[in-house]
Amino acid sequence: MQTKIEKIDSYSALALKNIDFNEPQSLEFLSFREKLSLANISHPAKKREWTTARLAIYEALQALGEPYPGFFKDEHGKSQSMSGHGYVSLSHTPGLAGAIFHKTQSVGIDMDLIREKILKIGFRFLDSSELDFLEKDPVHYTMAWSAKESIFKCQGKRGVSFRENILLAPFSLEDSVIKGRIRGTEFADSHYTVEVRKLENVILTYTIW
Ligand SMILES: CC(C)(COP(=O)(O)OP(=O)(O)OC[C@H]1O[C@@H](n2cnc3c(N)ncnc32)[C@H](O)[C@@H]1OP(=O)(O)O)[C@@H](O)C(=O)NCCC(=O)NCCS
Repeated sequence: MQTKIEKIDSYSALALKNIDFNEPQSLEFLSFREKLSLANISHPAKKREWTTARLAIYEALQALGEPYPGFFKDEHGKSQSMSGHGYVSLSHTPGLAGAIFHKTQSVGIDMDLIREKILKIGFRFLDSSELDFLEKDPVHYTMAWSAKESIFKCQGKRGVSFRENILLAPFSLEDSVIKGRIRGTEFADSHYTVEVRKLENVILTYTIW
């Protein structure tokens, strides 16, 4: 199974892993609680996405020399470390799973396939100021969508609206960093810097806060 690990700094690492249905997976490192969660996923493709994302975290932790603490989902769906130490975020897209871990700061990661149809749903997740600066290009729209997903996952609370509460500063198709902030919620005026990567037909973003 192909894995790409990037040590961002001594506190954080990112791992991307191909979802390979033929490769045997050793899952002994999972906590008891995680093994139970896995047993409750009935769909084989979902199971494989879930396990590949956990293997990605496991390998990101290894790159940092950190033990795997096990993770549980809080009431919002955000994964939290069972040891209370460190922050994690996960994403999967067809064929690929990704994870980011940071020892001391909250993180968010997202991967999205670039699809033409995103142009039709811009009004649902974009503010009018964002619609003004974005080109009618599926890559540009996917960058905006994914940046908002990463910010959403980093803050972790349900009820934060992409269109109303997460606002992106103007950015171009060539930019590798997007600035965004949360407004109009109890987390208002939280500012985020989102890193952007283009991987063939997928946009990857992540943020550390
Ligand atoms: C839940 C949500 C963050 C998942 O993102 P996604 O792009 O559909 O799927 P991804 O594969 O990238 O991410 C899935 C992971 O997100 C994580 N996640 C779920 N809820 C989360 C939350 N509240 N905070 C942080 N991470 C969360 C989980 O770890 C999940 O992986 P797992 O099921 O293997 O544990 C997303 O669907 C969502 O609800 N977004 C906000 C709602 C919204 O405003 N949508 C658009 C408005 S137009």
